[in-house]
Amino acid sequence: MSKSGIKVFAPASVANVAVGFDILGFALEKPGDEIIIREGSKPGLVITEIQGAGGKLPYDIKKNTAGYAAYRLLEHIGETDRPLEMEIHKKMPFGSGLGSSAASAAGGVYAVNEFLRTGLSKQDILRFAVEGEQIADGAFHADNVGPSLLGGMILIRDNETLDIKKLHIPPWLYAAVIYPHVEVLTRESRGILKSEVSFKDVVRQQGNLGAFVAGMYTSDYGLISRSLQDLLVEPQRAHLIPHFYEMKNAALKAGALGFSISGAGPSMFALCDNSNNAENVLEAAEKLYKINKVPVTTYLSRINHEGAIRF
Ligand code: HSE
Repeated sequence: MSKSGIKVFAPASVANVAVGFDILGFALEKPGDEIIIREGSKPGLVITEIQGAGGKLPYDIKKNTAGYAAYRLLEHIGETDRPLEMEIHKKMPFGSGLGSSAASAAGGVYAVNEFLRTGLSKQDILRFAVEGEQIADGAFHADNVGPSLLGGMILIRDNETLDIKKLHIPPWLYAAVIYPHVEVLTRESRGILKSEVSFKDVVRQQGNLGAFVAGMYTSDYGLISRSLQDLLVEPQRAHLIPHFYEMKNAALKAGALGFSISGAGPSMFALCDNSNNAENVLEAAEKLYKINKVPVTTYLSRINHEGAIRF
């Protein structure tokens, strides 16, 4: 009989949200990853099973985002010899721009934290999750991991110190997410970005970010809509995504408040002020990709306030 353990779910997330490259992200209700942690039979944390990854993920805990995030927590509490077994069930696509490696990292550290009843809060273990995700894309930013672990929409004032704030979410805010089945690796999608952008665009982008946050707090959908524009990164990455601008036009026409790339792509998201408009956006997206023979998966979701949970 297998030993008793606990199971956690950590959701996918949409990073950048058009206005906050590396500093803004929100959690989706689905899809997400599942992690099981149980007592092991020999000292140390081992990954015993990885499902749904097509053999692409390493079992070495120092090379696996979930394993490494959990290991960093174990180091922090002085329990690296604790016999523990981890199972990873990938239930979302890699290289999709939906924070797949972040969901694993958040799930891995959260599962161990819950199993060992450390008394540490999600905020306390966030750093370890970000360090886990860093293995995948080489950079330290919490715009996927933060929402996946803590839930909600997270604004990061400073990634280094993880000074973060969960934003107010207006009622009726829905996300329509479109995932075309092409792979874009975050490392590469970051690699193509210019290291300098125009001062004029930065000034305008600051206006968009500030106004977006104000719109969220006052449930001003008009202001949210006018603000949801990415002048800095979207123009540099759009070519990685099949029919991006056609898709954007179709989504805005179908009633999206705004539309942009989810994280490093290829997924895209729209924010909508009701579920009907979000359904219309997804319908338009599916139609456009059907005509162009691009396989696609779509998700309709509210903002997930919980983040990682035991279930
Ligand atoms: N902010 C990140 C990026 C998210 O766009 O590169 C993906 O890790």
